[in-house]
Amino acid sequence: MLMLNKAAGVFYKPSRRKTYEFLRSFNFHPGQLFLHKLVLGIETSCDDTAAAVVDETGNVLGEAIHSQTEVHLKTGGIVPPVAQQLHRENIQRIVQEALSTSKVSPSELSAIATTVKPGLALSLGVGLSFSLQLVDQLKKPFIPIHHMEAHALTIRLLNKVEFPFLVLLISGGHCLLALVRGVSDFLLLGKSLDIAPGDMLDKVARRLSLVKHPECSTMSGGKAIEHLAKQGHKLHFDFKPPMQRAKNCDFSFTGLQHVIDKIITQKEKEEGIQKGQILSSAAHIAAAVQHTTACHIAKRTHRAILFCKQRDLLPQSKAVLVVSGGVASNLYIRKALEIVTNATQCTLLCPPPRLCTDNGIMIAWNGIERLRAGLGILYNTEGVRYEPKCPLGVDISKEVGEAAIKVPPLKMKI
Ligand code: KG4
Ligand code: ZN
Repeated sequence: MLMLNKAAGVFYKPSRRKTYEFLRSFNFHPGQLFLHKLVLGIETSCDDTAAAVVDETGNVLGEAIHSQTEVHLKTGGIVPPVAQQLHRENIQRIVQEALSTSKVSPSELSAIATTVKPGLALSLGVGLSFSLQLVDQLKKPFIPIHHMEAHALTIRLLNKVEFPFLVLLISGGHCLLALVRGVSDFLLLGKSLDIAPGDMLDKVARRLSLVKHPECSTMSGGKAIEHLAKQGHKLHFDFKPPMQRAKNCDFSFTGLQHVIDKIITQKEKEEGIQKGQILSSAAHIAAAVQHTTACHIAKRTHRAILFCKQRDLLPQSKAVLVVSGGVASNLYIRKALEIVTNATQCTLLCPPPRLCTDNGIMIAWNGIERLRAGLGILYNTEGVRYEPKCPLGVDISKEVGEAAIKVPPLKMKI
C-alpha cells in the first residue's frame, strides 16, 4: 500500500505495522452482516478526488470528495501536474473518509472499482496506482471503470430505467450523445468536434470577466452565464446555431465562442472600456449565448431521438432521455430539452446536480452494475493500464450523418 508522507509530498511503501494501523483506522462492525454486494468506487480522472461505498440496492453508505475547482479557477484552467499533486495529497484521506463513514470494513468489500479511462493521464495514474495497492493489500477483485459509462449509468442508481435509453452528457470536458443498450453496450451517436459546451461557457464567462461581477464572483462560468442571462434579452444578439447544415448528431462550440469573442471586442470599443471591465451588454450576451447553446444541443438531441426511433433502437413512445454532466444543471437548457422530449413522447430524466458532476458514487455504482452482470471483474491486475483517450462504445455517428434526418422545427419558447 502507498502512503503519503505529507512533509515530503511523496508516496512511500509503509511498514506492515503502518499498513495494519491504516486498515484498522476504519470502523469495524464484526456483528454487522452485509448481505449485499458492496463496492468502493474511486475517481481521479480530472480535478475531483472522490470515493464512495455503494451497495447493491443503490444505497450510498459513505462518500467523500475533494474538489480542486478553487485552485484551478485561479490559474484559469486545469494544470495537470498541479491536479496530480492535489490528487496525491488527498486520495488516502478521501478513501479513508468514504470507508469510515460507510461503517463498512475493507474486508467486507466485494470489489474496488476505479476510473481508468478516459481522463488526464497524470490524474488517472494517481487513482489507479493507489487502487492497485489497495486491491493487492485487501485481496479484492478490481473493476476498471470507463468514466463516461459511469456517468451514463448513474441514473439507474436512482430510477428504474431499463435499457435501452438515450444519454446526453454535457459538461466542461464532455459532450456526447449515446444509446445505452446494456451495462457495457453503448452506441455513440454524436460528439463535439471541438470543445465541450461547459468549456465554451467558461471561456465566454472569462472573456466577460464575470468573476469581477458582484453577483457571479463565486460561480462557475456556466452558472454565471445562466444567472446573468436572466437579466438580458436572448434576441439582442443574433448568434446562429452551429452546424445547421450538417444533418448529424455532432456538436461544435468553438465557432460560436469566436463569434462571441469578436462581439465582445467590438462592444468594448463602442463602450470605450478596457478588456477586463464588465460590459453594459454582458447580460444580453449571456442570454444570447445560452439560448444559442440550448438550441444547438436540443436540435442534435432531437435528431438522435428520431434516428433511434427510425431504426427501432428506442421504443416509439415513452423512450427515456437522460441528461447529465455539469451543464445539465442549467435550467434553460433543460427546458429546451423538455420541449424536444414533449414533442417526441419521451421522458426526460436528470440525476440531481451532485450526481451530474464527477463523484465517487457513480464509479462505485458502475462497479455494482458490472458485478451484477459479471462483466469486467479482474482477479489479477497484471497489465492494467490507464487510457487517457478512450471512445465510448461503438461509434455509429457516420451512419447517423448518412441518414441525414431532417428535424422538424420546434418553437423554443423558454
Ligand atoms: O461535470 P462538471 O462538474 O465537470 C466536468 O467538466 O467534467 O462540469 C463543469 C462544467 C463547467 O464548465 C461549468 O461551467 C458547467 O459545467 N456548469 C454549467 C452550470 N453549472 C456548471 N453550465 C451551464 N449552466 C450551469 N448552471
Ligand atoms: Zn465527468
